[in-house]
Amino acid sequence: MSGTKKRVFIKTFGCQMNVYDSAQMATLLGTEGYDEVGEAENADLVVLNTCHIREKAAEKVYSDLGRLRQIKEARAKDGKTTQIAVAGCVAQAEGAEIRRRAPVVDYVVGPQSYQRLPQMLRGEEDPLATDFAVDDKFERLAKKRAANGPTAFVTVQEGCDKFCSFCVVPYTRGAEHSRSAQEISTEVRTLVRYGVREVTLLGQNVNAWAAPGLDGGKDWGLGELIAHLAQIEGLARIRYTTSHPRDMDDGLIAAHRDIDVLMPYLHLPVQSGSDGVLKAMNRGHTMDMYYRLIDNIRAARPDIALSGDFIVGYPGESDADFEDTLKAVRDIGYASAYSFKYSRRPGTPGAKRDDQIPEDVKADRLSALQDLLVSQQIAFNESLIGKTLPVLFDKKGRHEGQICGRSPYLQSVYVQGPLHLIGTLVDVKITSAGRNALSGHLVSEAMSPA
Ligand code: SAH
Ligand code: SF4
Ligand code: F3S
Repeated sequence: MSGTKKRVFIKTFGCQMNVYDSAQMATLLGTEGYDEVGEAENADLVVLNTCHIREKAAEKVYSDLGRLRQIKEARAKDGKTTQIAVAGCVAQAEGAEIRRRAPVVDYVVGPQSYQRLPQMLRGEEDPLATDFAVDDKFERLAKKRAANGPTAFVTVQEGCDKFCSFCVVPYTRGAEHSRSAQEISTEVRTLVRYGVREVTLLGQNVNAWAAPGLDGGKDWGLGELIAHLAQIEGLARIRYTTSHPRDMDDGLIAAHRDIDVLMPYLHLPVQSGSDGVLKAMNRGHTMDMYYRLIDNIRAARPDIALSGDFIVGYPGESDADFEDTLKAVRDIGYASAYSFKYSRRPGTPGAKRDDQIPEDVKADRLSALQDLLVSQQIAFNESLIGKTLPVLFDKKGRHEGQICGRSPYLQSVYVQGPLHLIGTLVDVKITSAGRNALSGHLVSEAMSPA
């Protein structure tokens, strides 16, 4: 296809790791002559980067494929071809089955094999790849990464060995794998050169990251990796997500005490507040262990904003179990949280149980839990009114003259201000707070150059 510009539309479902993978695919396809466009109607190639975590997410892919079939047919009438690739976790979980169910699909490529897309498009490789070639993937991915604004995701760890009994991730993303410290360090430095001020280190179990250190000593954990990255000049903020309570070690907790650029925000999913349910979920920790962790983290960084994930209605969950979850939320206090009704996933142990919870019970429990979590989120946001917070501005706001950024606690913050502040850190006095965002006014110009 050399010489002719082609167009690719990439639609991303699911978690931030898919967002990162989509950015990598865009870069990779860019080197093959593809420009990224915003809608399927104008695209020669459409990539659906899919999520398998809950039934709804997976089924959406098939409704999208129905719509894409119509677009492909309409474009064919104009003499244009449209190629369709399904990538991501549904691709991994269903493989060849996708092309049986939706023959409109040309390529199926799993989350650890999308580096082969260029060869597939040229007909040099099989149009179905779902093996776990993690090293090969990072090896073949473009070494230069286009930065897109002042914040960026960097995958440092992939896969999961935990096998929680509700979850498909160990099957769709494979075993735990840590990228080398050198590779991560190089990628972050490149991003910073392109103007990135904040990186979020990503992994399905990001705090399970472990690899040989760059100082010739023993292996590093995530805390040491963060300490190393914190030295990079121009990098103003580091975040990481998602953590598992079992992998939250003392080194990482100490990093929250010692490293200024590590933001005071921690996403530490607990899923349930009942020891019985945690055991049934195979989470590998008790509530007592979780409480002790939270105490240690708050001792290290008293202002830390805690976030979590919750599942209601896991098979066998009783009213008393659910009350334990509400009680845990009341005791701990979350700044933000995600909560879901249990979704029965094919191939997982939870799906085989015969004590599934009725949908209406799950719905009632979810709404009670969400009421509580939302009230905590609003209270946390309101607690910042009157305070001055450093905000990293990353985009225009919704209204004329408005810009938007993030607080250290990951809240969106809106102010009236000039566009040239995007990409800089500026102090903002918070004057009001809602459920999802704060607003305020600028108190100083950029503290550091863009
Ligand atoms: N590795 C992370 C979670 C990744 S999946 C961790 O262990 O915390 C993101 C979230 O999706 C999970 O935390 C869980 O709350 C939710 N989830 C996973 N499988 C689910 C299922 N079968 N039904 C409902 N929610 C699910
Ligand atoms: Fe899924 Fe559990 Fe692994 Fe998280 S730790 S990805 S919930 S199996
Ligand atoms: Fe979904 Fe796969 Fe992420 S199942 S949540 S896209 S790891």
